[in-house]
Amino acid sequence: MERRDFLKTCAVSTAIVASGVVFLNDARAANLPVTMYKKALLTDANGKPIWFDTIAPDAPFIFNYPYAATPNFLLLLDLPVKPMDYETSEGGKYKAPGGIGNGKNLVAYSAICPHQWSYPTKEFTVVNYYGKKDPGCMQGVQLIKCCAHLSVFDPKICGKKVDGPAENHMAMIVLEANEAKKEIYAVGVAGKTQYTEFFDLNKQELRKEYGSSANAKAEVEKATVIRLEKYSANVIKC
Ligand code: FES
Repeated sequence: MERRDFLKTCAVSTAIVASGVVFLNDARAANLPVTMYKKALLTDANGKPIWFDTIAPDAPFIFNYPYAATPNFLLLLDLPVKPMDYETSEGGKYKAPGGIGNGKNLVAYSAICPHQWSYPTKEFTVVNYYGKKDPGCMQGVQLIKCCAHLSVFDPKICGKKVDGPAENHMAMIVLEANEAKKEIYAVGVAGKTQYTEFFDLNKQELRKEYGSSANAKAEVEKATVIRLEKYSANVIKC
């Protein structure tokens, strides 16, 4: 587990159940440890909370969380994603929380490749989701692939690395949904995030884009969900 990236690590209290959150990830309900960040509401470009019926299925969306500059994929899949017990390359055990919602099929993953931290920028992305209708040899695979060095991850099994040089699975974003309010939140991260390496490596670019390192590292309380094709001007597939 990384040092200063984490504000706090805790086992989540069952008090959350009592507070009316209805779609708890199984890992959280079981009081397993997750890395908690500031809770952020997921909204559309107009600031309206997104809900399951407003998310196009099998299409990659991006939102930045827990920091202003750290992008994640949001995917509404067509099958449930079960929680998984995983280990980081250093042997740290963690529970990847699986999907949320009635279908347990809404998932989110850090879009920063755990190999050498390629990520979707405003200019381009080589880290992409290949859905059922994608043309070419990746058609129908429902996988995330990083074209930098060809690591492949499976969002259907909690971001598991299935090919390539990455030594870790994709870090999974912990989501919650409040049915009464019809709101979805990001609340934490499970797995190896590598935010320290990401910020160190991309210092100059992030300063340029966000005005300062402090702005890039600001924790978000609201995260705008955008189609990947709109977030990145050039979607490079391989
Ligand atoms: S940076 Fe993604 S595979 Fe190397």
